[in-house]
Amino acid sequence: MFFCILSCTDKNTAGYEYMPDMYHSTAVETYVVSNVFNDSLSARQPVSGTIPRGFMPFEYDNSTEDYIKAGKELSNPIELSNQILDEGEGLYVMFCAHCHGKKGDGKGSITHPLYSNIPSYSDDILMRRSGVTMKELRPGHIFHAITYGLNAMGPHLTQISQEDRWKIVHYVNTLQK
Ligand code: HEC
Repeated sequence: MFFCILSCTDKNTAGYEYMPDMYHSTAVETYVVSNVFNDSLSARQPVSGTIPRGFMPFEYDNSTEDYIKAGKELSNPIELSNQILDEGEGLYVMFCAHCHGKKGDGKGSITHPLYSNIPSYSDDILMRRSGVTMKELRPGHIFHAITYGLNAMGPHLTQISQEDRWKIVHYVNTLQK
């Protein structure tokens, strides 16, 4: 009886233990305060440099400097083929066409004034950021733009895998002509 009253006052214990062999795990349990490590955290940080399965790091930041660098340094790692172009087109229609237009002329179905100034991929106008025209944008520029977005265009790094972004780049290249 005494044990029973005591057991109800402390919510962190199972109360009176009749056969305690299996009550206490010898392993450190996740998210409990532990005295195994000096900082008392039982859930440890992953080793630095760890990347989630299936994730490929992109070594360029969301800055104009890295945008220009990506344009200079990167080439499309995916070999061009009709099938890749088809896949790129499908992804473009899904993720880009409502703003950029099916033909890439900047005339998508979205008419909100916020998106009234979408450049055509085949424009000859010099872009402030890259110092080249839309027509001359390199695969690395386009990949960076898809990844991080620009002003009214949002980033797509969490929605579209790197592989799929490069497929879209192949397709956008055809719209630049
Ligand atoms: C919500 C509308 C929207 C969507 C969706 C969108 N864009 Fe854009 N995009 C814009 C706007 C607006 C700009 C012009 C940004 C500026 O210059 O301020 C732009 C600019 C660009 C540029 C030029 C960037 C530069 O370097 O100057 C590229 C390339 C581009 N978009 C590609 C894409 C691709 C590829 C997709 C699909 C994965 C996409 N965009 C999806 C609105 C969109």
